[in-house]
Amino acid sequence: MRILAALSLLLLSACDIGADNVSNAPIVSPILTTEDARDPQSFAQPQTARVTHVDLDLDLDFDAQSVSGTAMIDVIAKEGVDTIILDDDGYQVESITDGEGRPLEYEVGEVTEGKGAPLTITMGDAREITIAYTAEDAGALQWLTPEQTAGGKHPYLLSQGQATLNRTWIPTQDSPGIRQTWSARITAPADLTVVMSGLSADEPEALEDGRRAFTFEMDKPVAPYLIAIAAGDIVFEELGPRSGVWTEPVMLEKAVAELADTEAMIDAAEKLYGEYRWGRYDMIVLPPSFPYGGMENPVMTFLTPTFIAGDKSLTGLIAHELAHSWSGNLVTNANWTDSWLNEGVTSYFENRIVEEIYGTKRAQQEVALDFAAIEEALAEVGAGAPGTALHQPIGTDSAGSAIIYNKGAAFLRTMESIVGRERFDEWLKQWFDNHAFQPATSALLLADLNENLVKGDAELAKKLKLEEWIYQPGLPDNIVLPDPAAFAEVDAAAATFAESRSVDEQAWSKWTSAERQRFLTKAPRVLSETDLAALDGQLKLSSSGNNEELFLWLELAMENRFDAAVPTAEKFLSQVGRTKFVAPLFKALMGQGDWGQAIARRTYEKNRASYHSLTQASVDNLVKPKA
Ligand code: BES
Ligand code: ZN
Repeated sequence: MRILAALSLLLLSACDIGADNVSNAPIVSPILTTEDARDPQSFAQPQTARVTHVDLDLDLDFDAQSVSGTAMIDVIAKEGVDTIILDDDGYQVESITDGEGRPLEYEVGEVTEGKGAPLTITMGDAREITIAYTAEDAGALQWLTPEQTAGGKHPYLLSQGQATLNRTWIPTQDSPGIRQTWSARITAPADLTVVMSGLSADEPEALEDGRRAFTFEMDKPVAPYLIAIAAGDIVFEELGPRSGVWTEPVMLEKAVAELADTEAMIDAAEKLYGEYRWGRYDMIVLPPSFPYGGMENPVMTFLTPTFIAGDKSLTGLIAHELAHSWSGNLVTNANWTDSWLNEGVTSYFENRIVEEIYGTKRAQQEVALDFAAIEEALAEVGAGAPGTALHQPIGTDSAGSAIIYNKGAAFLRTMESIVGRERFDEWLKQWFDNHAFQPATSALLLADLNENLVKGDAELAKKLKLEEWIYQPGLPDNIVLPDPAAFAEVDAAAATFAESRSVDEQAWSKWTSAERQRFLTKAPRVLSETDLAALDGQLKLSSSGNNEELFLWLELAMENRFDAAVPTAEKFLSQVGRTKFVAPLFKALMGQGDWGQAIARRTYEKNRASYHSLTQASVDNLVKPKA
């Protein structure tokens, strides 16, 4: 009761800032006004004036590699407020006008690296504002030449908004706590097809200038990092009644086969935590330069092609991005200090879907891999490092995804085991329902857990250690450990290999991908050329079609200066732009003195231009030019 009363004070509702004066006002999501919900990575001041809707009208120019046109924003503001601040990280404003086309004054402030600049608009009493602009060299956008695509004939465009990149091409308040509906009309050369993270509104319209116009609509308020676009020579195939896949024609057959379990995953997810609220669940399998494995853009998950192994062994990625339709897209971290609310909860949910679709053995093995990654991260930075807490205040040196994702998931798994699956699932479903289309913080989740799970049971509270899990570094001692049986066989095989350098090819050929990955991470870190050659010869690692396994092998090989694998590593780095693979490989090479640094520099020089700006940013840090 007390908590509920307090919470309602935190929610600045639409009517508090005058939405009731706006005709046709869309559903407006509340803004959290507590200090822990403030987003230091945005210049917006949503308590006084906020964007509720963005309408984009943009032309894609593949020659100039720019987008230009207008963004019309709907604003609600506290009475008497006559300015609004947007985020601008590089787009060039040409003019800003009110609903009647009258010019409004504006000012672009000083740029802060990685955050951009405040765009302050003197709007007077205008609440509909049109910004005419051009975005060139936008960090969110990657323009691919035909050679960088599978088909080789048409250029391609893809975007990546999370975390703070959409302010490079969309003039709005770019903060995850400021949800907005949006719509778009996008024109492109007629031989390209455009998709976005909203439902397609009309059939594409042929224009007179050899272009086509595509229209999209997202009528549910979403965090602005979730607005995404891709364009290229892409085709669509239905997977089920509400799911399908877009990709280049030559990729279609493989993509469809790999994604065959999608509809069953949606059903499983709904059975666990309630209705899928977004209508369709489509995916796009992108060219390999996409900087992530996957990105949960609503109704259009973006995917790396590197998850295609031919045997669905890496489709945990699909379960993960689908799960974000609840954790992340429905209930969203108010700022990036609480990204574990998106990623940790999703990783837990992902594993529940995997268990449902592929069974307990695979799910438990993936839990065990995750746990090993937590231990590795803790060993690296120390269990007392502040970056190993789930809630990560700005300025905390992050201990990486093993904490946000895997420790986050372990927290949920621990709660599940203490209160029982049925009761925990009921709580989590309730969390999604009661916070749907709203931002959340760690404190809000903690309050909700106390209110709806602990319910005053002091004994239970003591067992759960909620605050310790959320705010303290390291691992609380009540963590449920992975099933020791998960990797019993492969760990024995790894021990044998460590002792006698012998491997059982028969066993390897029967192992799951998780087991193979486990073997490759458990193998001795220092191996001779003879050992590596034998291993590669027996297990055919260099020609693996499974990119997770290939990556682990190449990392091990480069750490041991194994010349014979260098061509494969260079080829991999020239084809794949996924940061998770590319950055560690460059790091491994840079740690190998002149031998590795020469390879790293030469390879990076050749490939840097074909990486996404995010991948470039992380590799630039590793491959510093010789002083
Ligand atoms: N939302 C993330 C990708 C992301 C995280 C982009 C942080 C920008 C900042 C996405 O859902 C994700 O977690 N992708 C993972 C896949 C996964 C199975 C762990 C990836 O890309 O590897
Ligand atoms: Zn994720």
